[in-house]
Amino acid sequence: MKIGIDSIAFSTSRYFLKLKTLAAHRGVEFEKYSHGIGQIAMSVFPPSEDIVTIAIDAARKAIAQIENIAAIDFLIFATESSFDLSKAAGIYVHHFLKLREDCRVIEIKQACYSATGALQLAKSYVRENHNSKVLVIGSDIVKYSPGSSGEPTQGGAAVAFLVSADPQIMIIEDGSGVHTNDIMDFWRPISESEAQFDGKLSAYNYLKSLDISFNRYLAKTNRNISAIDYVCFHAPFGKMAQKGALQIKWPNPLDDTLLYNSAIGNSCSASLYICLTSLLDHSKAPLENKRVGLYSYGSGSVAEYFSGIIAEKYRSIITPEENQRLLASRKEISFEEYELFCSNSSDSANKTYENSGAVRLKSLENKKRIYVEN
Ligand code: CAA
Repeated sequence: MKIGIDSIAFSTSRYFLKLKTLAAHRGVEFEKYSHGIGQIAMSVFPPSEDIVTIAIDAARKAIAQIENIAAIDFLIFATESSFDLSKAAGIYVHHFLKLREDCRVIEIKQACYSATGALQLAKSYVRENHNSKVLVIGSDIVKYSPGSSGEPTQGGAAVAFLVSADPQIMIIEDGSGVHTNDIMDFWRPISESEAQFDGKLSAYNYLKSLDISFNRYLAKTNRNISAIDYVCFHAPFGKMAQKGALQIKWPNPLDDTLLYNSAIGNSCSASLYICLTSLLDHSKAPLENKRVGLYSYGSGSVAEYFSGIIAEKYRSIITPEENQRLLASRKEISFEEYELFCSNSSDSANKTYENSGAVRLKSLENKKRIYVEN
């Protein structure tokens, strides 16, 4: 039975900061960000937008691409930017999407790896429930302390994809290489909104875990690197993915996979799947029946190398114009507005900002999050 990604879409903030602006205010040469890190901009989020609102927007677009919405009986919300230790963020999505009432909803976490964990879980679920579709959402907003070395690697986005039998975009193959090790390279204590990190250790472990999981994948599947046509990496910043390609001696350019990420920044759980979308949208060569290797890395850490085969129908399902329009229509903000967004002050909360989708976070009432449809 062929199981995999049936439709895919993403969403991000309506606002972005150019890294040229950040570099000028931090006294850093822009080339460090553009060449050393491989990023040109990052999405920045107004108070009315959070992991739920962008998830709803992404999920609405992913669902619009399929016919049988009633087949969705499982929603898995993958995130490391969760704001509630009890209620799953996916329940808000379930409500606004009007999914069937007997649809299971859960939230899962393992840093940037979580959407891949959700994808593998969804694949097993569909193998048991052939007619089901599972809605997987990876949604994250990445924040580091202003002025820290992590600051130019912030960003955020949500990706939503449906996992089903006979998928229209990508068949996920059996056989993958997994590597888990206990390491403090990136973490976010419960009381804090900004992530803590050890940048050099995280980059080292990303590459070490890639080496182990990739070789495990090759051994398990009895393949060598020439059996892989394209590769996508988790991209906390473009240069990290480029270093990953060097690590596995990948000979071809990654450019098509990194175009969206270079403008959005790190989107953690969504990042790998936005790289895949970027490849589907930008590749000039036909991708039908091509094998794509995928490297998922979540600090802490869990890594998985796996692969998929692009389906015959993928061109009729993807929405490159819509994705490119979404990014091209974003509004650039000044450094002062960026500082206002970061401060979470009442000045920024009282202003009206645009959201990407139709649902916005209206207020917090007795610590309850109130979402409204425009
Ligand atoms: N022109 C061109 N290049 C320049 C330059 C200039 N003027 N100045 C510096 N550079 C280059 C440096 O030589 C360096 O290149 P190499 O990595 O090839 O040596 C690069 O720019 C970065 O410079 P530094 O090493 O001095 O950078 P830094 O100490 O300021 O931190 C960072 C960079 C480690 C990525 C930091 O932004 C960070 O810690 N980010 C958060 C953690 C992270 O994203 N880790 C990734 C792996 S973990 C993961 O993948 C999970 C996740 O999503 C978080």
